[in-house]
Amino acid sequence: MKTLLQNGLVIDPLNRLTQVADVLIDDGGRIERIAPGIRDEEAVRVDATGWIVSPGWVDLHVHFRDPGYPEKETIESGSRAALAGGFTAVVMMPNTRPEIDSPEVVVSVLEKARRVSPIHVYTSAAITRGLLGREMTDLKALAAAGAVTFTDDGKTVMDPLLLFRAFETARELGLPISSHCEDHHFVREGAFHRGAVSAALGDPGIHPLGEELIIARDILMAEATGARLHIQHVSTARGVQLIREAKARGVRVTAEATPHHFSLTHEVALRVGTLSKVNPPLRTEEDVEAVIRGLRDGTIDAIATDHAPHTLEEKRRPIAEAPFGMVGLETCAGLAFTRLVHTKRMAFEDVIAKLTIHPARIFNLPHGRLDIGGWADVTVVDPSYEWTVDAERFYSKSRNTPFHGMRLTGKVVLTMVKGRILYADRDYFRQTGRAVDPMLLTEAVG
Ligand code: DOR
Ligand code: ZN
Repeated sequence: MKTLLQNGLVIDPLNRLTQVADVLIDDGGRIERIAPGIRDEEAVRVDATGWIVSPGWVDLHVHFRDPGYPEKETIESGSRAALAGGFTAVVMMPNTRPEIDSPEVVVSVLEKARRVSPIHVYTSAAITRGLLGREMTDLKALAAAGAVTFTDDGKTVMDPLLLFRAFETARELGLPISSHCEDHHFVREGAFHRGAVSAALGDPGIHPLGEELIIARDILMAEATGARLHIQHVSTARGVQLIREAKARGVRVTAEATPHHFSLTHEVALRVGTLSKVNPPLRTEEDVEAVIRGLRDGTIDAIATDHAPHTLEEKRRPIAEAPFGMVGLETCAGLAFTRLVHTKRMAFEDVIAKLTIHPARIFNLPHGRLDIGGWADVTVVDPSYEWTVDAERFYSKSRNTPFHGMRLTGKVVLTMVKGRILYADRDYFRQTGRAVDPMLLTEAVG
């Protein structure tokens, strides 16, 4: 069945396209034509007036907890959450159980994903065995098995000599090292950003220097070895500035920011407690502004969710014992549009670029663009739809979000993979009275 998306604002940053146009998808699921006023008698039409039609989104940073923690998330449930969030390609982090630190686990994760997931699932692999920071994994074998980057995410590799060797090997392999930047000695201290809020909650706090020291160290590592470095979830003003300076002198460094770090300050902990406990922590207004400035000026290349599911039972533990992390896939679009676009800080197309072609390029993934003849992975957003976050309605198995009850403007309404609509937001269609031909919705969740 051919599909014709009519009259949407088509944004494809790679091809420098931002235009009200139609997108024709052939019956094999590939993009046949993009132009205004396409006529095709065979195609089933979808009225996309007022919607943004973009390449399927790419998330460089998700925790699917598979294998090991099916009560929090699995590749199946995580993929459904991704689709509901507009993501058609994701990169898993290796802090599973067992950890993704051997070629066998890489292969089994990718095989399972191919079997059960309708989206494109990639995986990173650990830099050290068991993410324990002591013994380097076999990076060459992990790359051969299909890992797209190396990281001990959730933890920082504290041994500089071991890390130096990993950078050297990564350079040979042409793959980036992804760095979770937080000196363990600083994190061991507390739960929230060190300041008035942590003090009020009786928490020793985490000083931003812990993050900045490691960002600086890893930039020097990239500079010394010539390897590519990707800085994960940068959260401090000084950290953003370090990356800006490194880029200016030609270091091969990229960076991502999360929706929570550009949307929330540490003060939210006074209201939601451990639901806002995350690594690195939410910081000050000044840091949030610096992250947004970094996104604007290109210092920060990509938006990544760091989707980190945990059970509410665990999150209800006392501050020092509750795990770090929050789910992020299903609130990303709303936060990006509300905080970046509707505040006029960023243009639609720049935000879309940070969700599509930029992240795809960082890990060399064949996604994030609308090519004629290429697969029709497409994310459709209604940028002006107002809605209220309801964690009970998440497709993720977990509900740990500080955004429950928040009003946001902008929502993913349709997500397509290879030309098939795999997600349609039924609440949206019910409330707005808009419709999509039921023939196109037989495979859709939502
Ligand atoms: O808050 C976090 N949670 N940050 C990380 O880097 C890891 C993640 C997790 O795995 O829960
Ligand atoms: Zn991390």
